[in-house]
Amino acid sequence: MDLLAYRDRFPILETCTYLINHSLAAMPAKAEDNLLEYTRMWRERGIRSWGEGWWEMPVTVGDQIGRIIGAPPGSTVMHQNVTVAEMVVLSCFNDVGERNRVVYEEANFPSVRYLYQAQPHLEVVTCADAQAIVDAIDERTLLVPISHVLFKNAEIQDVAPIVRRAHEVGAHVVLDCYQSAGVVPFDVTELGVDFATGGSVKWLCGGPGAGWLYVRPDLAARLQPTFVGWQGHARPFAFEPELEYADGARRFLTGTPNVPALYAATAGYDVIEEVGVDRIRERSLALTQLLIDRLDERGLEVGSPREAERRGGTVLVVTPDHAAVHRALGERGIICDFRPDSGLETSSAQPPTSGREIPAADGGRGGIRLGPHFFNSEDELRHTVDVLAGIVESGAYEQYAGAVGRF
Ligand SMILES: Cc1ncc(COP(=O)(O)O)c(C=O)c1O
Repeated sequence: MDLLAYRDRFPILETCTYLINHSLAAMPAKAEDNLLEYTRMWRERGIRSWGEGWWEMPVTVGDQIGRIIGAPPGSTVMHQNVTVAEMVVLSCFNDVGERNRVVYEEANFPSVRYLYQAQPHLEVVTCADAQAIVDAIDERTLLVPISHVLFKNAEIQDVAPIVRRAHEVGAHVVLDCYQSAGVVPFDVTELGVDFATGGSVKWLCGGPGAGWLYVRPDLAARLQPTFVGWQGHARPFAFEPELEYADGARRFLTGTPNVPALYAATAGYDVIEEVGVDRIRERSLALTQLLIDRLDERGLEVGSPREAERRGGTVLVVTPDHAAVHRALGERGIICDFRPDSGLETSSAQPPTSGREIPAADGGRGGIRLGPHFFNSEDELRHTVDVLAGIVESGAYEQYAGAVGRF
């Protein structure tokens, strides 16, 4: 099927130029059908719905994610978001002793950063890039939470050397795949990461409330999360007074699952599986290249990587006053977003990592983010760059000076 033929399945594409698939991807119409099915079951089947699929959904839906990320059945479970999933991981490591360091990258998504910063028993080492992470990992490193694709500039990180170094010293890697799952093919088993996490609002087209956690099967068998609820028990319906962990990734569950979110999310996963991530990637590379070429032609600065191997799904455009330009684009029916620049940061613990200046295409640099998905057309992209160039050249954005954007 021609990829543009899928446009009919995403109603919002009829009303605007939707280039924000790295944030809240276009909703598949089927999500609405799925949610109606959820309410039908609630209305007609009531409590019996738990036994007719609802209770198992964190695992059955997790298995669908597993097919997309190369995880074996039973190794991926659903949570509400990445923060909760990373907290479950953290809760496996309370008695840390000397091994109390977290080595992470400056360009991690804020909720990941905040969670680790907030742990009083851990010391965080912040690194400027993947090489600095490899250099900073040592025998005192407990966890290495990194992003597969950086959220601001969509740079693909080279995960293999980080995993190799972490495993050499007995540390565990937690890979945040939010910006890669559904647009960049990868295989968690091949990458050898210990944990992987992500959510569904972005490239997976699944909407909010459906985060996921993969745990390497051999680790899942021996880790004991302390953030656990009755879904993590070996026999939840025995209501036993003492905790006995379930087998596999089930033990990483908490309490009652977010059933409606899981209904909605599978509509997105279904279409991603139907098209296939390899085909999506091929299309994504063609569309992001078209954007880059057109931006070059119009004299606009590209702030994201240009090489195909380092390029995720989003193109970052550096303009004056990103917030105002973003507002002007929105007024013209082009839906995208922007991220602010972040300052140079120094390590919060020893050993200090490289404190270099942030160059172009660095994960700290902000700009307008354009995130085409497989259903966007070439015409939409040409139109967007032309409108953007017009806004910048004419100074039309200046009337929105002082604009602040939240999304
Ligand atoms: C790389 C990355 N991680 C995590 C998140 C979100 O984290 P959470 O699911 O905790 O809201 C985002 C964006 O929303 C992201 O881009």
